[in-house]
Amino acid sequence: MDPPSQVTPPVRGPRTVALVGIDGSGKTTQAHLLADELSALGLPASYRRNAGGRRWFGRLATALGRRDGEDLLGRRGMLVVESLLRWLAILRTLLRRAVTGEIAVMDRYAVCQYASLRAHGAGPAAERRARLAYRLFPKPDVTFLLAVDPAVAYDRVESRGYDHEEIGYLRAAAAAYRALPEYPDFVVIDANRTPAEVLASLRAELAAYLPDAPRRRRLTPRSNFRVLILALGSLTAGVSALGNRLAEVL
Ligand SMILES: Nc1ncnc2c1ncn2[C@@H]1O[C@H](COP(=O)(O)OP(=O)(O)OP(=O)(O)O)[C@@H](O)[C@H]1O
Ligand SMILES: [Mg+2]
Repeated sequence: MDPPSQVTPPVRGPRTVALVGIDGSGKTTQAHLLADELSALGLPASYRRNAGGRRWFGRLATALGRRDGEDLLGRRGMLVVESLLRWLAILRTLLRRAVTGEIAVMDRYAVCQYASLRAHGAGPAAERRARLAYRLFPKPDVTFLLAVDPAVAYDRVESRGYDHEEIGYLRAAAAAYRALPEYPDFVVIDANRTPAEVLASLRAELAAYLPDAPRRRRLTPRSNFRVLILALGSLTAGVSALGNRLAEVL
């Protein structure tokens, strides 16, 4: 009888799924639901948040008697901090994914930073710098754009009750996502509907990417070691690239 194979079985199905879209489009809600659903199907998946820290800075600013993060750091300063924090969050997500082998269901990704830069009125040079720093990160296997009427998103954010977005900003952000060069690659989901309906659409679209028979991904110690070395190499390269970019901006 042959000894058990040490070779990791070929992995099918997505490894990274990104949910992107304007504030209030339902990314956090759907990313949690989707991760739970994939896990229930026997495909280990985790919800991963790639936040830019704008909300956290908003709270800090209020505590310090300022209106919001931009009032505290300036528009440009807030964009630099957001770009840096999101970059670190994505790196952490990808490292964790590499080590655990789980599917990462990501709440926001690099494209959100490009859309944020555009919607906050940053120039093309700022986006070029961000793209240079973020080019380290691979394209997700599938990116869902939760497309929602900005007025609907505005009402959702208001009833959520813990933050506030200007309708003008939400409109600019919606337009920014549509104008991104990555837009043709997005799977656009009508997110104006109920959470259950949106989830059903995500499920239907994702089915094309899923293996026929769900199976657990196992990483051998050797492949774990390899991804760790790759990840550490990428980390060093990324930190120095970002450092150079930031030095140019500041
Ligand atoms: N399809 C939906 N219909 C109605 N309400 C929804 C729907 N999806 C989410 N919500 C509610 O709307 C609010 C915003 O949703 P959620 O926080 O998931 O959006 P988000 O895209 O993550 O926003 P942000 O970018 O600001 O983090 C929440 O209170 C959530 O419960
Ligand atoms: Mg959210």
